[in-house]
Amino acid sequence: MSSTSYIGGAILALLLAGYIAQRYGLPPPAPKIAGVDLGTTYSSIGIYHAVTGETTIIPDDLGKKSVPSVVAFLPNGTVLIGTRAVEQQEKNPRRTIYDAKRFIGRTFEANNADFLADQKRYPFVIKLDDSGRAYFMVLLDTGDKRRRKKHVKSALNQVVISVPAEFGEKQRNFTGKAAELAGMEVRRVISEPTAAALAYGLHKKTGVESVVVVDLGGGTLDVSAMAGNNRLGGQDFNDRVQRHIIKKLEEKFGKTITDKEDLQQIRMDIEKAKIRLTSVPKAMISLKLKAVGEWSYELTREEFEQLNDDLLRAIEKPIEAALADANLKPEDVDEIVLVGGSTQVPAVRKIVGRYFRKSPNFGIDPELAVVTGASVQAGVIGGGWPLQVAAMELPTKKRKRHFFTEEQKKNEQDKEI
Ligand SMILES: *[C@@H]1O[C@H](CO)[C@@H](O)[C@H](O)[C@H]1NC(C)=O
Ligand SMILES: *[C@@H]1O[C@H](CO)[C@@H](O)[C@H](O)[C@H]1NC(C)=O
Repeated sequence: MSSTSYIGGAILALLLAGYIAQRYGLPPPAPKIAGVDLGTTYSSIGIYHAVTGETTIIPDDLGKKSVPSVVAFLPNGTVLIGTRAVEQQEKNPRRTIYDAKRFIGRTFEANNADFLADQKRYPFVIKLDDSGRAYFMVLLDTGDKRRRKKHVKSALNQVVISVPAEFGEKQRNFTGKAAELAGMEVRRVISEPTAAALAYGLHKKTGVESVVVVDLGGGTLDVSAMAGNNRLGGQDFNDRVQRHIIKKLEEKFGKTITDKEDLQQIRMDIEKAKIRLTSVPKAMISLKLKAVGEWSYELTREEFEQLNDDLLRAIEKPIEAALADANLKPEDVDEIVLVGGSTQVPAVRKIVGRYFRKSPNFGIDPELAVVTGASVQAGVIGGGWPLQVAAMELPTKKRKRHFFTEEQKKNEQDKEI
């Protein structure tokens, strides 16, 4: 056995290179610059067509426009990305890396409580190097430790890449480096809320002064680049449901599920059920577990909302704080943009709409809003745009405040004890 280690940037570089490699040969005319949304849970690449003014999001070889930000290594060193990596995740949890973006460009103290919790939480091995940078250690069967350098031949060699608003200089830099490692030149790094506003053309709309971008992705909640809860995201909703399912299984079978593959299956089925619940009121979770065999559970939207009630209510806090920081009242806000897959959860839309008494912009899949905007920006830079605008950045407050739900606060206290 040999082991190979990868820092977050290298994982994301493999993801990007794999994504592009799947689609070698893009529809003509070949774009000069592409927009990239390198997300915590999903990633997308888009191109802007100067003639039609439309954005095409490049699907992967399975036709999906959002590619899971997951990279897996087979024992022989073969790299799988996206859906293919997810498909084999249950069988290969220790070599399947996800959430790499949470670690990119950051350093940790070895005794940092968050880091220790992450080390426990993820099925793969995370370590720290001498300078406190996290890296992932992957065990391979091959004796050959050298990683073959892949040359990605691609029509896309220049990109605009988006990063979360709260990313600091170093995190932006390392995100850029990930793209460079994948063979791309980074023309600009823009913040995700800015990209989302660009996607809706809000930079061209007259009378728009205040835009609030509520971004509830897989792992984070960001509001308008000004305040957020960087630990509340779609994954938290799933965790709640997971705990509930495990409790139900305990009641039924008198057993606690601890097997990693079983837990992984539960996790994936919950994610699918959550997505179904955005369009239908009930979703079936059908499991086939090593520990207890087959078992099904019908999850209703109502129950999903009950299980997540306090988390859903917590969404208002960063919105309030973002407005306070910007000296705005809810009625001052001209436009609301929702970003991130979790904003498709009907209760999230309801809460935001009720708060502002105004419905959010719609029409663009919130999961694709950021990549669409990054592509528009790429079109601007590439000159394929009738140059009405230059780059736009929403004002970003340096100060970043964190909001925690009661439960998160309690976990913090537990850690301190
Ligand atoms: C690595 O293993 C996979 C699955 O067992 C196989 O499909 C693939 O061809 C192998 N690749 C190499 C380079 O041996
Ligand atoms: C990252 O920072 C280094 C050193 O300041 C710089 O040389 C490099 O161009 C930066 N890379 C990106 C992609 O921003």
